[in-house]
Amino acid sequence: MGFKLSLFPKKLKEKRILMRVDFNVPSRLGKVDDDFRIQKTIPAIKDLIKCGHKIILISHFEQKDKTPTLLPVAAYLKERGLKRLRFVDEVTGDKVKNAVSKMRSGDVILLENLRKDPREKNNNATFASELANLADYYINEAFSVSHREHASIVGVSKLLPSFAGPLFKEEVRRLSRSFRPPHPFLFVLGGIKPIKLLLLERFLGRADNIIIGGTMANTILYAKGVKVGESIIEKESISKIKDNILNSNKILFPSDVVVSRKGRKKTIVLKDVEKNDSIFDLGPDTMRQAEAMIKKSRFVLWNGPLGYVEGGFDGSTLQLAVALSRSKAETIVGGGDTLGFLRKENLSGKFSFISTGGGAMLEFLAYGTLPGINALQKP
Ligand code: 3PG
Repeated sequence: MGFKLSLFPKKLKEKRILMRVDFNVPSRLGKVDDDFRIQKTIPAIKDLIKCGHKIILISHFEQKDKTPTLLPVAAYLKERGLKRLRFVDEVTGDKVKNAVSKMRSGDVILLENLRKDPREKNNNATFASELANLADYYINEAFSVSHREHASIVGVSKLLPSFAGPLFKEEVRRLSRSFRPPHPFLFVLGGIKPIKLLLLERFLGRADNIIIGGTMANTILYAKGVKVGESIIEKESISKIKDNILNSNKILFPSDVVVSRKGRKKTIVLKDVEKNDSIFDLGPDTMRQAEAMIKKSRFVLWNGPLGYVEGGFDGSTLQLAVALSRSKAETIVGGGDTLGFLRKENLSGKFSFISTGGGAMLEFLAYGTLPGINALQKP
């Protein structure tokens, strides 16, 4: 897929730039808990500072359906070397305009959480122009929220000369590899989001081998007529699963699984699942077959843990992560839970590319583009 994404011209100096970033990071007790996205964004900000630009950063921040202040992220950015960053506790209005008018070359402002203003999610045109009026140029460095048709993603880019940030461009380039992959191509899909079934359909033709886990795997097994006991399944997806998935010889259907039986973990062959069991992980025999697939792959795309890792059913996901970290294949990984797991296990440095996208990665892979990418396309 050829996208025309231009980076901000290096020859321009001392401009006012509105930069959409994604600082929606896991936090605890008002402190940043996982800084992966922030770390990936800082280099682009520092490059713009070096060119004397005045940078106005805008982001959303949501925690358990709440919209907290971005103040802790501002503190965090200062600690990470953005000494001249100033936080403004409003999204638009006189306070913001005033702060922007006083900016000097190399200054950075972080505005308050965009979603404190309901017009952001509604892609309100007035809100978009209030944001656009703050700057001369717009950069989208927030691939991970570019599946949203929000004002700061698709609205502002209509009003200002707009560019992709370097990370944004890299995300598109790396993930696009999976549309024309080197072969053998292994696709690994776990987790729980319903869109994953669509993704599976889309990649059935492209991938040479597919490993499935999570609730999607339970649902497909159920649709194949396998007894899955009380395992979590996506009921609304059952009727949508087509025969080419049910009968595919590319998909590794588990031969053994780890279940919770009367509150205890038990590894059993699939046909021994009892009516009160819940399947929460793939078993060792299945993972031996998975490892053989990994060994012969040249390209691997992985999204979503294979088991219920938060509940301690992490054996297959760990085995997969270790095998991939040792493999010579090009490895592209994404999804919030997958990344959290890799960071916990100190394995995140061992992959060719880790996407900052969760939902955005899935939608890009499923639909081949995103609203935020389309908004940046030059005619
Ligand atoms: C994410 O965390 O996946 C992005 O920041 C998008 O967040 P959202 O799902 O709240 O839009």
